[in-house]
Amino acid sequence: MADPASTNAVILAAGMGTRMMSAMPKVMHPVAGRPMVRHVMAMLEQAGAETIITVVGPGMDEVVHETRPHPAAVQTERLGTAHAVLAAKDLIAAAPADTLLVLFGDTPLIRPETISRMLARRASPDAPGVVVLGFEPEDPGAYGRLITGPGGNLEKIVEAKDASADELAVGLCNSGVMAIDGKKVLDWLGRIGDANAKKEFYLTDIIETAIRDGAHAAVVMGDADEVLGVNSRTDLAAAEAAMQDRLRAHAMAGGATLTDPGSVFFSWDTVLGRDVSVGPNVVFGAGVTVGDDVTIRAFCHIEGAAIGPGAIVGPFARLRPGTVLERNVHIGNFVEVKASVMGEGAKANHLTYIGDSEVGAGANMGAGTITCNYDGHFKSKTVIGRGAFIGSNTALVAPVTIGDGAIIGAGSAIVKDVAADALAVTRAKQAEVQGWAKRFNTKRGAEKAAAKARKEDT
Ligand code: UD1
Ligand code: MG
Repeated sequence: MADPASTNAVILAAGMGTRMMSAMPKVMHPVAGRPMVRHVMAMLEQAGAETIITVVGPGMDEVVHETRPHPAAVQTERLGTAHAVLAAKDLIAAAPADTLLVLFGDTPLIRPETISRMLARRASPDAPGVVVLGFEPEDPGAYGRLITGPGGNLEKIVEAKDASADELAVGLCNSGVMAIDGKKVLDWLGRIGDANAKKEFYLTDIIETAIRDGAHAAVVMGDADEVLGVNSRTDLAAAEAAMQDRLRAHAMAGGATLTDPGSVFFSWDTVLGRDVSVGPNVVFGAGVTVGDDVTIRAFCHIEGAAIGPGAIVGPFARLRPGTVLERNVHIGNFVEVKASVMGEGAKANHLTYIGDSEVGAGANMGAGTITCNYDGHFKSKTVIGRGAFIGSNTALVAPVTIGDGAIIGAGSAIVKDVAADALAVTRAKQAEVQGWAKRFNTKRGAEKAAAKARKEDT
């Protein structure tokens, strides 16, 4: 057997996750911005699984949608983990494979290398019929216990509710992940009954069933933090923290400097180039790519943005979806950019909003520049030419085009296109009255002194 490519998988996700206290199915809750079930699925794809079937509860259309194009099966009654796998019976039979992996949709931290180790164990000369991912939690609590024989072979899994005192004393636990002989799995599952404390069809009974059929079972060890299952919002926060630590380590291993790693939050898909420097308190939402030699200063929020090499962003900048910063762009403090392309070397260093815009290479947006892109009904576009200079406190009322090299005087409200190399100013002409301030101050000062003297007289 053991073509490692011939692996299918079933993800069990029929539980609503009542302890999450949520209207959303548990496995849809995001970790690092991606639903848990997607993490499991992507990990399985990386480990080489082909057909990946998700078992959902009735009405869990969001989960079915999320796991497409992979197929889903509905378990109409929740009668246990073996029963749940059998809900996918037809799909399993339709795509025969050497190994069927079974995992839970609420354990988003399992690594592909761990699954590969399980598959390698399946492929080893003694070819165990079932390989179980075991772990040693600090508190074995309600986990199923892995009962091994003298040779280290797995003899059975006992659920905590059905365990004797001796069995409860065993520290080796069932993570829930199994790699099962794909040719035998449906036969073995069909033989499992529900004579136990919970009156459920336990997947864990497959060990004794396989052994009765002449096969044997083995354990591969995993880390306790990898098999962390999410049952509550507290668990979700723990999974998020563990995933963030992983993403931070990955960023640093790839050549990024994080001044204060614990305060930087990544999305599962954040891509950083080399020699990127990220200051404290930076949050990356989904869909961010950062080129080489970029500096992201403290307190930035970045989402759906492509940042070109050499750019400087922040502190306190917000890049929203559709932002493209080409090489060496500078975005400074309290600047927001949305659905806009900033050409090479363009700058917006202070207090600016750039939305639905194209900013030419080398253009300079003065402090307080606002692209007025929304009239309450429609969004319109602003185009700023190469090398244009927008004076401070300018409102560019879209749709509007500023030509290459044009200069806009500070404080202008620009409502018409401006030609290349022109100056446009819309503020009122400055008037000056010689000596006026001095006369005013002298007169008012005298009035104030007289008023004070009258008050003291009374
Ligand atoms: C299960 C294992 C236990 C293991 C533990 C690890 C069994 C019998 N027990 O126990 O040995 O230590 O996981 O966390 O397998 N599900 C369905 N349909 C069902 C029942 C469950 O889809 O009818 C799904 C749940 O949504 C969940 C997963 O299967 O994702 C596990 O079910 P759960 O009830 O949490 O099993 P545990 O009692 O935790
Ligand atoms: Mg559980």
